[in-house]
Order: sequence, then structure tokens, then C-alpha cells
Amino acid sequence: MLPKGKSMLWTDKYRPKVFKDIIGNGKQKKEIEAWVENWKNEIPQPCLLLIGPAGTGKTSIAHIIANNFSEFIELNASDKRSHDVIMNTVGESSTTQSLFSKERKLIILDEVDGIHGNDDRGGTRAIGKIIKESHHPIVMTANDFYSKRLTSIKPKCQVVKINKVHTNSINALLKKICKEEGIEADPLVIKELAKRSNGDMRSALNTLQVIVEESKKLGLSDLDIVSQKDNINNIFDTVRRVLKSKSIDKVKKSMMLDEDPTLVMEYVAENIPREYEKAKEIKKAYEMISEADLYFGRARSSRNYTYWRYATDFMGIGVALAKDETYKKFTRLTGSMAFSLMGRTRGKRALRDRIAEKMSKKLHISNSIAISMFPEMEIMFQNDEVAYEIASYLDFDDDEVKRFRKRKIPKKVIKKMEKKKLEEKSKSKDFKSSSLGVAVEKDETKKSNSKIEKKKKSSESDDSKIENNEITVKSKKGYSDQDKKENLEENETKDKKENSAQKSLFNF
Ligand SMILES: Nc1ncnc2c1ncn2[C@@H]1O[C@H](COP(=O)(O)OP(=O)(O)O)[C@@H](O)[C@H]1O
Ligand SMILES: [Mg+2]
Repeated sequence: MLPKGKSMLWTDKYRPKVFKDIIGNGKQKKEIEAWVENWKNEIPQPCLLLIGPAGTGKTSIAHIIANNFSEFIELNASDKRSHDVIMNTVGESSTTQSLFSKERKLIILDEVDGIHGNDDRGGTRAIGKIIKESHHPIVMTANDFYSKRLTSIKPKCQVVKINKVHTNSINALLKKICKEEGIEADPLVIKELAKRSNGDMRSALNTLQVIVEESKKLGLSDLDIVSQKDNINNIFDTVRRVLKSKSIDKVKKSMMLDEDPTLVMEYVAENIPREYEKAKEIKKAYEMISEADLYFGRARSSRNYTYWRYATDFMGIGVALAKDETYKKFTRLTGSMAFSLMGRTRGKRALRDRIAEKMSKKLHISNSIAISMFPEMEIMFQNDEVAYEIASYLDFDDDEVKRFRKRKIPKKVIKKMEKKKLEEKSKSKDFKSSSLGVAVEKDETKKSNSKIEKKKKSSESDDSKIENNEITVKSKKGYSDQDKKENLEENETKDKKENSAQKSLFNF
């Protein structure tokens, strides 16, 4: 399934292996080396906190430090960090110190300011506790010196500020790599590229690789494709490429962006039914998303982030190749269910995660799949009664309802629905396990579904979407055998208990 012969990322290929390979930050390097030496001489040192912008070598430094210790354990802190996770993986190895050996385990906590994390008070507290209790050396990295999340952590650490890599140094490294890769490059163009990367070595290397890997040439016009857009723009570029292209190479290149890959997946998932029109394509594309989702989960649970690569291939190349032909039309892409640049606040994210959590519990789907269902939810929530049914089934509060519709559900409707529910309850008592009861319920199902369809048909969106929506959710729901099985088992017991009129909404 995975494309063979994927070329290696240059940022991996040219990852610094020893302190000498790290460009710039000479003074900082000395300080870090002294810290390592002291540990080696059994002089305990405070937790080392490396703070600096992206692509300056912090993670690389942490791994170079790790080479000096017998073992190391790493946790990607920006990946769904919770109190439990940190305590289980790090807390244990820091407190159960090997009493009989002097072996030191290095603990690496990458990106503790959690650029992609959500609620993290527990996380920060746990980190504080680990710093206090650990007998092992700890290295942490962070991006933002002024991050609130670091306020309580900074005073407990030896803080080393890592600076941007100087343009001239980037220039020199790029030149060296070009030579090694056999690339003809205009020195002026390399210099311009170095300047535009603004101290970010990672982006400099990725950009160079994207441009020259095939043509083995680098000219001034090539730089035009490298614009200095922010990440949100880049995400849309990536999504557009995935949906609009069938070129494995182009898609692969577009997946090189500095964003949380699960976020990219959410954007791709959300936009699939906007671009693809054939049911078969949409189904296939969502199967690919499910695979990607599975691998992200595997990466999280095993802390083996190489799985991210597989996930990336599924959500990129997999989704791109799900279509027969590229569509010649303009599609407005959205990122409404994730968050726009402006709405990218912690609050929104927390709300989103809360909703996803509720959906995933009730519907037995993963959080990211739940999030990719948000657009469908928005459509369904346009109808007052349907909105009420879903909201009460999923136990939404007002804020959560407002995520999917502007207006509150009118009191009148709530009253009416509650009354109906009571009536239904007494009815179903009468019919309890008789077949007639089932028939009545099925009828209800049809009614409420046709209501949604009518609503959708009358709205300006094209009719094909209605069909699409149903298919997408179906395929999303059955995204893994494991889940399917769980679903079946759960449903068997739950079916008896739950109000089927409400449930029907989600039996797509
Ligand atoms: N100071 C540096 N010297 C040499 N290469 C660097 C440096 N900083 C970053 N790089 C390149 O960028 C890649 C990513 O760096 P990384 O250590 O992950 O940065 P950070 O953790 O600060 O974001 C590295 O694999 C390496 O190729
Ligand atoms: Mg890093």
C-alpha cells in the first residue's frame, strides 16, 4: 500500500549527530556540554530547558545529549499530553531510580509549551513534579520563551536560549549539501533562500529539497514557488494539492509542512466531500483517512513517531489517488470545524475537543473522525428538532450546540420535543418487546431522516452532497475492524436501553 522508494527527508539525512554538527549558538553549546560532563561526573544538574524558535536544532541537541547516557526516554509533549501519560511514561522512569546501578536515563520532553496541545494544567503540574522528584537528567525543549505554560517551569530549570541560525551559516550548510547531492546551484539563489528561511534551518532544508530533488538544479525562478506564507495558508495549499492533484510527487512534497499532521488530516477529511463528487471516490478517500487515523493512533500509543510517515502517506497520496480524474472546478475549501487563523484560540480548541470526546464515546469513533463529521453536524443542526435530538443524545451544553448553529434551540421546540419524548416513552412501554414496537420506531427513523434530506435539498448546496454525506459517514464509522466489533457488541446491549428515535440519527 505504501509507495516504495520514498526518498528520505534531508532534515533527517543531515540531522546533526554530534555537538560539532550543530551550527551556531557556540556559547550555548559549551554550556550544554558542561551540563553533560557534570552529570557524567555524578554531579547532578538541574533540568535543562532549551528555548528557541523552530528549526534551530533543539530536538537535535536533545538527541545528541542522549548519546551520552546509557538510555533515554522521549515524550513528545505537544502530542496529546496529559497528566496520566506523563506520569506513566516519565514519572515512573524518573522515580523508580535504579537503586543498584548508577546508570542514568536521560528524559527528553520535547516542546513542553505544547504548541498543539490543549488543556494542559495537569501536564504542567506533572512536569513540575517530575523535575522535583527525578534523579535522572532531564532535557526539555520549548518554542516560546514567554509562554504562560512555562512560567512555573522556568524557575526550576537551567534555561538555555537557543537563537535563530544566522543567514550566513544557513547559506554555508545549504551550499555544502548541494555539493553533496550533486546540485547545480546559483550561489546567489542559495543566499536568497537562506535569507528567506529566517533562521529556520528545517524550513531551509525542506524547501531546498522540494525544489531541487528532481531537477537537480536551482535557479532564481524556482524561488518564486517559495512564498513566505504562514502555516494556515500552507495547510490550505496542502489540502488543495491533495484534492486537486494525482501526482504522487507533488502531493508528497506538499505534505512537508510545519504543522501538526493530525490537524492537516482533519482539514483534508473535512474538504473531501467538497471536492470529490463520486460516491466511490469519497468512500475510498475516507478509507484512506481512516488508515491515517489508525497510524496516528499507533504513533501516539507506541510513541514511535515514524508511524507519522505512514499516516502522512495515507492521508496525502492515498486520498489524492482515490479520485479517478482531477476535477476542473473551483472549490472553496473550509477549515471551519478545525479553526481559522483568527479562531485559533485555546478556548475554541478546547470546545472542539470536548465535543469530539462526547461524540467518540457515544458513537464509538476516534476523536479525529468525530471532528471530521462536524460539517455534517452543521447541516443537521440547521433543523431545530434534529438539533434538539442530537444535542440531547450527545448531552451537549449550550456552547457545544452553538458550535453547530448560530441560534439557540428555541424553547418552544424543546418543550414540544420533551413532550414527544415522554409520549414515546410511555408508548414504548406498552409495546416493549413486541415487533410492532420496532416497526413504529423504524417509521420514526424514516421520518426524521427524510426531514434532514428535505432540508438539505432546499438549501443551496447541490443534491449530490446529500448522497455523499451519507456515504462518508458510513465509511468513516467502519474505519477499523476493531471498532466495528466494539460497535456491534456495544450496540447490542445499548439498543435495548436507548431511545431509538434519537439513535437513528446516527445509524447512517
Ligand atoms: N543548528 C543547526 N545546525 C545544523 N542543522 C540544523 C540546525 N538546526 C536545525 N537543523 C536542521 O533542521 C532539522 C530540524 O532541526 P530540529 O533539531 O528538529 O529543530 P527544532 O527542534 O529546534 O525545531 C535538523 O534535522 C537539521 O537537519
Ligand atoms: Mg523540535
